[in-house]
Amino acid sequence: MATTGEAQPNQVSRHQEVGHKSLLQSDALYQYILETSVHPREPEAMKELREVTAKHPWNLMTTSADEGQFLNMLIKLINAKNTMEIGVYTGYSLLATALALPDDGKILAMDINRENYELGLPSIQKAGVAHKIDFREGPALPVLDQMLEDGKYHGTFDFIFVDADKDNYLNYHKRLIDLVKVGGVIGYDNTLWNGSVAAPPDAPMRKYVRYYRDFVLELNKALAVDPRIEICMLPVGDGITLCRRIS
Ligand SMILES: C[S@@+](CC[C@H](N)C(=O)[O-])C[C@H]1O[C@@H](n2cnc3c(N)ncnc32)[C@H](O)[C@@H]1O
Repeated sequence: MATTGEAQPNQVSRHQEVGHKSLLQSDALYQYILETSVHPREPEAMKELREVTAKHPWNLMTTSADEGQFLNMLIKLINAKNTMEIGVYTGYSLLATALALPDDGKILAMDINRENYELGLPSIQKAGVAHKIDFREGPALPVLDQMLEDGKYHGTFDFIFVDADKDNYLNYHKRLIDLVKVGGVIGYDNTLWNGSVAAPPDAPMRKYVRYYRDFVLELNKALAVDPRIEICMLPVGDGITLCRRIS
């Protein structure tokens, strides 16, 4: 999920509302990144999907263009082939992933809402990568449980991107750690949660920011001490924590 910002230094004081600040020093700096290295390089289909999404009432949920570029690069760097995405919305991160995978690469993509996925689907089809996507409508947890029960999916995923219900991230982690291969990567999105993770507890926050904040804090704490993974928390988008499985 992306965040929007204002042209001010990004320090959250007790008096500022959390939930509408860029994580960077200024909006101008963020614009610089977009204009210099992201938008000029954005594939046509991703641009089209981004523009379609911008007209949707829940567009705040979309993955930002800089994060899409990051995911695309990461997937190529680790030579991922078998991937999973939890939380698709209109499919911006999904398309970034699909474009990065080899022609026989796969993405198991899950979302409780098919309608939004179908909004972005024409752009995905135009890009010629729809054949890599296995979209499943419905909550992700039961699908993960089924895969674990089957047994044959243990340690099979090269890359997993989690960008859905934040109150379930720890439940996802408990399962995904067995599904990702040793050496594979799980990326948890929104781990800086609009900057709220570092705000004083009594700082004004939008209701949804406050509600999910405790879950994100709990996840961050758990990941920091999990001996099965190496981690790296990046201030890209709304914060993404990469977890590389080591055992
Ligand atoms: C932040 S959006 C995903 C953004 C997406 N990655 C993108 O690039 O635009 C979160 C998505 O998670 C989905 N979601 C919420 N709860 C879910 C669940 N239990 N299982 C699967 N998807 C869920 C929502 O329907 C929503 O589309």
